[in-house]
Amino acid sequence: MTATTPRYASGVRFSSDVVRKDAYDVMARLVDHYRATSTDMVPEQWREPVANYQDPQLWERELQAVHRTVPLPLALSCELPAAGSYKAVDAVGMPVIITRQRDGSLRAVVNACRHRGGELVPEGTGTTRRFTCPYHAWSYDLAGCLTGVYGEETFGPVDKGAMGLLTLPVDERAGIVFVSLDRTAELDLDTWLGPELLELLGALDLASCYHHSTRILEGPNWKVVVDGYLEGYHFASLHRTTVFRTNLSNMAAFDSWGPHQRNAFALRAIAEAAEAPEEERDPTTCVGAIYWLFPGLAIAGGWREQVAVSFVLPGSTWDSSRTEQHILLRHEPADDQERKAADHTRDWFHDVVLDEDYGAGFAIQRGLAAMAEQEFVFGRNEPGVQHFHRAIAEQLG
Ligand code: FES
Ligand SMILES: [Fe+2]
Repeated sequence: MTATTPRYASGVRFSSDVVRKDAYDVMARLVDHYRATSTDMVPEQWREPVANYQDPQLWERELQAVHRTVPLPLALSCELPAAGSYKAVDAVGMPVIITRQRDGSLRAVVNACRHRGGELVPEGTGTTRRFTCPYHAWSYDLAGCLTGVYGEETFGPVDKGAMGLLTLPVDERAGIVFVSLDRTAELDLDTWLGPELLELLGALDLASCYHHSTRILEGPNWKVVVDGYLEGYHFASLHRTTVFRTNLSNMAAFDSWGPHQRNAFALRAIAEAAEAPEEERDPTTCVGAIYWLFPGLAIAGGWREQVAVSFVLPGSTWDSSRTEQHILLRHEPADDQERKAADHTRDWFHDVVLDEDYGAGFAIQRGLAAMAEQEFVFGRNEPGVQHFHRAIAEQLG
């Protein structure tokens, strides 16, 4: 792993007074925390039965009540930049293709041929004019309509209008693509995200970013993984030579909107901000804001030049997860030097998260069985972890 930390350029413009005020308010809260050596706290600790992490039946119930029910973030708009762009992804056991139509809108379909279920396209992104099943070559247009049946005169008649790919509700907001795995659901993203969070997310301007890279991280249980994204209590110990070089530990401002949340961590530059006159403070240099959209999307560095977006999804068994880690840039690298800087950030995030966070997560998982009768304790200084588990409990009813 490299020893240096990524350097961010500051100066991303705040798109409205609301957004600007929010950023400066968060910075002011962190300056106060820096002076008092404190952090945002909730009134009580939270006790979480360890069994809730590893009971396979509960895990299955959670997938049903959470991932297969709520609008699920599955892609970035900038992964689907043009007509014909597609992304195929396995979403908790449902193979999905998201495509950009000629009119700019999105479609989502089940990646399974209506003849006998062939997978139309392997996981990944690309550009195409149609999907042709590799099994017997039925073909579908970008919207999923069946357009061609090979050897139809021998196959017998096929009602093409009724044999399109199964569609799923899909929509995008603030550069993020959401799909409902419930085919009958109404996807109301404005209500799901709410106006205030939508404005803050919109200000990150992810929709106009350049998509630099995708890395896949195989991880342990999804909740073990997610817990680690939602607190900065572990920075000084787990990330002593990496994240802790730029961030202070156990110092954060916490905000939530419905099940979603933001943990804004104090960067080391908060020390200078605390000394500087208010008009000279710049939140983009001293606040590390990580937005978290329930149930599994982290946006880090959204006020900066390089943005790291992580999609965490449960794997095929309770003890596995899969994370897509994306690096977005404000513009395509103009030269080799900019490309190298972006590659460095990509590798740095990948290595730190995999070696340190997910390494710790796999180790936690090895101890779960022996702890099955116990409870974990989430501290008053871990509001994000508490909020996440509360949101799951609410979703489970
Ligand atoms: S399964 Fe797709 S054409 Fe047969
Ligand atoms: Fe971490």
